[in-house]
Amino acid sequence: MTTSYPMNDGNSAYSYFNNSQRQKELIDASKDMVRDAIIGKLDVEEKYHNIILEFQVFFSDHVENDFNTLFRSFPYASRVLGSFHGRLFPSQSIHFAHSSCAIHWLSKIPKELLDEKSPTWNKGLIHYGTSNIDVVNAYIAQFEKDMEIFFNTRAEEIVPG
Ligand SMILES: C[S@@+](CC[C@H](N)C(=O)[O-])C[C@H]1O[C@@H](n2cnc3c(N)ncnc32)[C@H](O)[C@@H]1O
Repeated sequence: MTTSYPMNDGNSAYSYFNNSQRQKELIDASKDMVRDAIIGKLDVEEKYHNIILEFQVFFSDHVENDFNTLFRSFPYASRVLGSFHGRLFPSQSIHFAHSSCAIHWLSKIPKELLDEKSPTWNKGLIHYGTSNIDVVNAYIAQFEKDMEIFFNTRAEEIVPG
């Protein structure tokens, strides 16, 4: 089972809402790329000239996270709960998917990092900045597995073509 670590909810001094300026900068920096990808995917100018387009937007995160603050900002939003390391949407139902500051989260800690008798024991650390190469490789291997699952599941959900 996946363990999730929810962001601090609400609007207090220590909330995610008030401590995510860097994420906002990254979202702002990617806006043009996202807009171009949506226009390209929907072929908006060619096919839908003079037609009012309707969009449905889903936000996905773990169930424990604070969606209420999000919904106050985006009343049109819907939520999809669950892990992006598994299926979230029906087959071929999504035209465009965007992950914002999230896919670097691993599905789990590689188990050898928690084994005190293993050469890859990470001494209780949650980072590998000062760890040996075996620890780094264990994180890389987990990331590769997670990314393969992430892209395969999204590929099933995206409308082809
Ligand atoms: C740094 S926050 C980014 C939140 C938001 N997407 C943004 O751009 O501000 C990372 C988010 O990824 C979520 N997350 C981590 N692993 C996840 C998973 N396997 N499935 C769904 N959400 C996940 C966390 O719960 C957390 O809310």
